[in-house]
Amino acid sequence: MKIALIGYGKMGKMVERCALQEGHEIVARVTKEKRTFSPIEKADVCIDFTEPSAVLGTIREVAAFKKPLVIGTTGWEVEKGQEYAAMIGILYAPNFSIGVALFERLLKEAYTLFSPRYGVSGVEIHHQEKKDAPSGTAKHLASQIPGLAFQSVRSGYHPGTHQVIFDAPEDTIELTHRARNREGFARGALEAASFLIGKVGFYTLEDYIQERCLWKEPIRH
Ligand SMILES: NC(=O)c1ccc[n+]([C@@H]2O[C@H](COP(=O)([O-])OP(=O)(O)OC[C@H]3O[C@@H](n4cnc5c(N)ncnc54)[C@H](OP(=O)(O)O)[C@@H]3O)[C@@H](O)[C@H]2O)c1
Repeated sequence: MKIALIGYGKMGKMVERCALQEGHEIVARVTKEKRTFSPIEKADVCIDFTEPSAVLGTIREVAAFKKPLVIGTTGWEVEKGQEYAAMIGILYAPNFSIGVALFERLLKEAYTLFSPRYGVSGVEIHHQEKKDAPSGTAKHLASQIPGLAFQSVRSGYHPGTHQVIFDAPEDTIELTHRARNREGFARGALEAASFLIGKVGFYTLEDYIQERCLWKEPIRH
């Protein structure tokens, strides 16, 4: 793939490293200082990891070039961006870790098992530079599991931990996803980018996982 990077911070650089390892080419880097979009003309797909206030402007610019856009930036106004999906392919995932997508699936199963006997709550922990709280992943998980709300911790260098706690008077069950580094996010974004090329409309990581059949049906005895 020929890739345009929108944003060249921690995630932009990690996407570049993984993309080069996988044999892809970086044809453009749009940064805050050099916010020129003309080089994206050569790209098959654009990948955005910037900051929330930049995303809608980026969608407008990228739509003018009719390029598909993968968005990893969290905390932006998704509804406002969705109207552009009539013109281009947009795939937004607040968390590109395939492990988190599987974790979400597990949480839904867990909720059906444990509710209403167990109450549910959540904690998310990220590095101190993270701008939004709760995390995009926490907001998404909370929207999927009734009664789930997250407390946010910002400290140190954590790339991203989401813990969901099911609690009853007798015992506690804790489910935790802990990202070990940023590489899983970058590789997930690249997988999503290859899925998005040639498509128009609004997609999520779940669409990719469905299409590539990464879900396994639960074992029923
Ligand atoms: N979806 C996922 O799986 C996932 C995973 C990790 C992180 N994230 C999210 O991705 C975003 C970026 O994370 P990060 O760790 O890479 O942050 P970061 O290291 O702060 O990088 C953000 C980069 O975007 C640049 N930028 C800001 N405004 C811009 C603009 N208008 N145009 C072009 N570039 C712009 C910043 O430039 P300056 O340094 O000059 O300000 C910085 O280089 C955050 O929203 C984070 O929550 C998502």
